[in-house]
Amino acid sequence: MSVQFSFSFSGDDIEDDGGSNSMATAPNVSAAVQPQPAASAFPVQGKPLVPATSHDLQYMLSQLPSKIAYSILDIDLDGSGTTQLPRRELWDVRVQLMAEDSGGDAEPGLGNHDVKTGVYEGGFKSWESSVDLVKVLSLSKTFLSDMDIVPRLIELGCGTALPSLALFRWSLSLRACDGDSVLSIVLADYNSTVLQLVTLPNFILCWALHQRAESPLLEEALSSEGELELTPEVLKAFDEYLRARRISLSFFSGAWSPEFVDLVGSNTTSGIEVGSKRRTIILGAETIYSPFALSAFTQTILSLMEQEKAQGNTAETLVGAKKLYFGVGGSLDDFVTKTRELGANVEEVREETEGVRRGVVRCSLP
Ligand SMILES: C[S@@+](CC[C@H](N)C(=O)[O-])C[C@H]1O[C@@H](n2cnc3c(N)ncnc32)[C@H](O)[C@@H]1O
Repeated sequence: MSVQFSFSFSGDDIEDDGGSNSMATAPNVSAAVQPQPAASAFPVQGKPLVPATSHDLQYMLSQLPSKIAYSILDIDLDGSGTTQLPRRELWDVRVQLMAEDSGGDAEPGLGNHDVKTGVYEGGFKSWESSVDLVKVLSLSKTFLSDMDIVPRLIELGCGTALPSLALFRWSLSLRACDGDSVLSIVLADYNSTVLQLVTLPNFILCWALHQRAESPLLEEALSSEGELELTPEVLKAFDEYLRARRISLSFFSGAWSPEFVDLVGSNTTSGIEVGSKRRTIILGAETIYSPFALSAFTQTILSLMEQEKAQGNTAETLVGAKKLYFGVGGSLDDFVTKTRELGANVEEVREETEGVRRGVVRCSLP
């Protein structure tokens, strides 16, 4: 039987834009449903883990609705300006599912719980540490235009994917029209529905809003306030833009596992020139919130970094997390200890002491 967590988001719904997308802030299991750590363990006894699966971008594009509604999240980059990231509205996802008769209320993650163990692991909402990662990444974004490296981003447990979305947004401005190396963005979430219903739509929104001034097609598609029409022409333009800018988007669902690592590892983008070095940045926000998630995530990032090292490439991982996940058992300190025990270097790059205590750490192999 699966256990449902309600993370009691008191003070949640950071609504700087009046929209209804929630920002998951305080992942404390509410007293009423507080499970024993053993009871909350993932995987759920008798329930198989979702196997690692790759998803074809063209197929995903063909499954989108004709219109999506969005709101804008303003992220203050610690006094160095702001960045604006669009997110598809969750009510719009529910409307789509009801129109498709998939039962919006029945879709795990769109109801009142924030995690339903082994079924839905929290990806529909944006969690606080993902914003912390955006702030850290903003300090080093120029690597996106470094001609000497082939950048590859892998966001694990991406959900709404704010960190990758920010890097994508910056890459649209920073990368030259031609001559740049391939930028590979790998997006992974336990739930394929999250990838289809929020992750991919958020990338399309980001591109459309960035390019609207230069495109009458997009200006028209965005003409209704807070909505984007996903006409076949708009989707074709998105696909063509990615190809022209040499940006590859890849999507993977399923549980972190050796099979998952093999699948992601086999997805190395072609088009890497002989002699060029790849730089892989693995990202994970709020991915270590239980002992099982912490262990599976740690093994996965170390295996991915080892794969890169074996191929002569550089790799690092940035992890944003709460200092403690009350009631569910994960903690940033536990992650740092475990990762160091397994031989990796770990340094703290950001600490958040206001509100729920959080941090961002960078991991690499010696
Ligand atoms: C709390 S959500 C965080 C989502 C997003 N990174 C954010 O900060 O807004 C945790 C994420 O980790 C993923 N996840 C958790 N356990 C996992 C597992 N064992 N295998 C694969 N993904 C997992 C979930 O799908 C979910 O997207």
